[in-house]
Amino acid sequence: MFITFEGPEGCGKTTQYRRTLAAMRAAGLNVIATREPGGTAIGEQVRDILLNRLENVAMTPQAEALLFSAARAQHVAETIRPALAAGYVVLCDRFYDSTLAYQGYGHGLDLAALRQITVFATEGLTPDVTLFLDCPPVEGLRRKQIQEEINRLDSMTLAFHERVYAGFQALAAAEPERWVRIDASLAADEVFAAIVAALGERGLKLAAYS
Ligand code: TYD
Repeated sequence: MFITFEGPEGCGKTTQYRRTLAAMRAAGLNVIATREPGGTAIGEQVRDILLNRLENVAMTPQAEALLFSAARAQHVAETIRPALAAGYVVLCDRFYDSTLAYQGYGHGLDLAALRQITVFATEGLTPDVTLFLDCPPVEGLRRKQIQEEINRLDSMTLAFHERVYAGFQALAAAEPERWVRIDASLAADEVFAAIVAALGERGLKLAAYS
């Protein structure tokens, strides 16, 4: 089973993904956890260009979309497909829906073109379940400023993050069988309980506290 975590900045996604990983390990499941951009040595180098180098302000949205997709192609071929083939549950912190939301809805790139690039990069791999950690960007950016270092994309305007958020909502509404909306404005334990319940409905039984 291939499970992705998506959502706007500061929605608590990474915390919940780590808790889900711990609960799966505690349940004795064979699971690997990975993230985008990154997840391979080459992908982590691309991540550095995309996020850590704050001087890369001149990067065009097209270049950004292709770099995220290049990292993803490597990630799918080197990490995700082999793990799925070996029977692992794969948890991934962001996947191609982030490209559609950020580069498509956020920057205004053509969604059909992005979908084609995505299919090329992933050779058609789609998550079985996508958990949408739903939290308005104003709240998420506020949390993130308190907690973490800011990456290049975090410093985009609030209007950009509002478009990204609307994009996630549209993507989730278009594929309700794959997406599960989780109210991420709740307390962390309640958010995790909702994730456990959603995965339980899909046959993965986990303990709600870990
Ligand atoms: P990261 O530090 O992993 O933060 P987060 O906790 O928000 O996931 O940064 C990933 C950033 O890259 C985040 O701002 C979303 C962005 N992103 C895209 O714009 N397109 C993509 O395809 C992916 C995978 C991420």
